[in-house]
Amino acid sequence: MSQFKDGILTGKVALITGGGSGLGAGIARRFAAQGARVALLGRTSEKLEATAATIRAAGGEALCVAADVRDYAAVDEAVRRTVTTFGALDLLVCSAAGNFLAPAATLSANGFRTVVDIDLCGTFNACRAAYAALATRKGAILHITATQAFVPTPLQCHAGAAKAGIEKLTRDLALEWAGSGVRVNALAPGPIDDTEGMRRLAPGDMAATMRRAVPLGRFGTIDEIADAALFLCSPAASWITGTTLVIDGGTALAGGARFLELLAPTS
Ligand code: COA
Repeated sequence: MSQFKDGILTGKVALITGGGSGLGAGIARRFAAQGARVALLGRTSEKLEATAATIRAAGGEALCVAADVRDYAAVDEAVRRTVTTFGALDLLVCSAAGNFLAPAATLSANGFRTVVDIDLCGTFNACRAAYAALATRKGAILHITATQAFVPTPLQCHAGAAKAGIEKLTRDLALEWAGSGVRVNALAPGPIDDTEGMRRLAPGDMAATMRRAVPLGRFGTIDEIADAALFLCSPAASWITGTTLVIDGGTALAGGARFLELLAPTS
């Protein structure tokens, strides 16, 4: 018997893309701790199983579905397996993402397309595949975007374009699906400690420089993102849709100029 049966998500079923690691895994653990049964979707079975094991060890229920969000048929099948296993789908979190630092002047067309494909098209694929099941439960969708969506950021044109697309998709779907009671919101995290994203985007000394640029004086934590995700997916946010919640310690307020240091080796 789970120790978490009286959580705010008790009785809910959540599917989390990118649920095997980083923010997605943190959100999955938090949702499970609040009573949800969770399905974890990602490319790497070992990561999914490791996260599922921590959820099960805490008394939660977790299903692992290995799939690439770029493959619509695989995402559709993951939704079907989730509904078959848990009986319904109430919540979808689109956390799967790919990123790297790359100067626009040398980034290949395929590199640009790959990030847009994972982040933006992958998000659409999951929403499209999950909509019918979500609509029967008046469910909620949460997209994980990033502050690059609206802060001009050197070496991030691919991610910025993809995330800006997700923000627009958030508002379009929120409007289009409001009539069926499906809420659609987004979180735009700034730099978060202990994530693959930060290992890629703040290599070496860059982490210390970026940390100093955060108005609240530190990077965020996966737990803080999970808290915000829980709020937006819970009944506490039942009249919120089409919103992107920036959660970045004030970093976006200061703009993206600090990233110009990263251009030094290539300009
Ligand atoms: N700089 C420039 N271009 C890069 C790159 C980098 N660091 N990494 C990959 N690319 C380019 C590749 O060269 C390739 O383009 P090409 O065919 O013209 O050479 C294209 O991107 C696709 O790379 P590939 O490795 O085949 O893609 P993939 O589908 O196997 O992997 C990535 C996708 C590239 C996004 C990979 O980094 C990944 O899997 N990331 C997931 C984890 C992650 O990024 N987490 C952080 C999220 S914030």
